Amino acid sequence: MTPGVSVDIGGLRLGGPVLAASGTFGYGTEVPLLERRALGALVSKGIFLRPREGSAPPRIAETPSGMLNAIGLQGPGVEAVVRDYAPMWAEWDFPVLVNINGESASEYGELAARLDGVPGIAGFEINISCPNVEQGGLYFGNDPRAAAAVTESVRKRTKLPLWVKLTPMVSDIGVIARAVESAGADALCAINTFVGMSIDLNAYRPRLSFRTGGLSGPAIRPLAVHLAHQAARAVDIPVIGVGGIIRAEDALEFLVAGCSAVQVGTATFVNPKAIAEIHDGILGFLEARGLSSLAELPRYLPRD
Ligand SMILES: Cc1cc2nc3c(=O)[nH]c(=O)nc-3n(C[C@H](O)[C@H](O)[C@H](O)COP(=O)(O)O)c2cc1C
Repeated sequence: MTPGVSVDIGGLRLGGPVLAASGTFGYGTEVPLLERRALGALVSKGIFLRPREGSAPPRIAETPSGMLNAIGLQGPGVEAVVRDYAPMWAEWDFPVLVNINGESASEYGELAARLDGVPGIAGFEINISCPNVEQGGLYFGNDPRAAAAVTESVRKRTKLPLWVKLTPMVSDIGVIARAVESAGADALCAINTFVGMSIDLNAYRPRLSFRTGGLSGPAIRPLAVHLAHQAARAVDIPVIGVGGIIRAEDALEFLVAGCSAVQVGTATFVNPKAIAEIHDGILGFLEARGLSSLAELPRYLPRD
């Protein structure tokens, strides 16, 4: 018998534990070309209320076992999402969550209110790695009060499942995790990219025009497993592990470390079939170990 791999994550029942990470699958226009059977859910590229151009090129740079990106949250704005993408998402047999962004807590709330009830939108993933313009550009995700204020602002405007995506650029991820849990998050995603920089020795300047970028890919995996584990130990809501997953074994590390599901980002750029292969590999692992479902996978989650 094939092991059961469906999971309940913060208000959503997913057919499988492997999800497409925000920003690495766009708005899903390529989905018809892929094997959908393995996709637990898709998280859209981040959007703001209004359209944004993003950063000037070059916006990506390859690094050892990873990449730096500074896309600058380019996006078409909320009205285009409602008009052009949500109708397509409504036809699909897996949920689509929208990754939402803002420059103030109220802007996040407004965005959620505009998308709430639109067919095709199954929930929200709040990206708190955004500068808080009202508080001098400090990142929402670095401050438990600001992270909670954003979560509360969105929670007030929607009953849809609400996931909060944590930044790794903090001294104690557990503090932020508990703050957003108390503010009404249904699940957490850990983690977003690390800030990094790479220098072009011919030009004597950074490779990215934005100077710094978000580091993703296998280079960050052990850091991500650790942070996802710390987040899972801090809260009672489900945690979705993200960061450097390219094979089923990598995903299983996050699951054993206490995560309920995983997201795959950079791997898709290298291998468009990565999500299907990871999904199948998890099934194969459970079968080989005689486990009848993902729920039976032993978790290492000490609470001391
Ligand atoms: C090109 C690119 C764009 C991204 N855009 C977003 C985004 O819009 N919102 C967000 O929350 N995360 C974004 N991310 C972060 C990913 O969703 C993910 O958290 C991160 O890349 C780590 O996972 P990975 O190593 O599997 O790629 C982006 C990552 C990449 C590589």
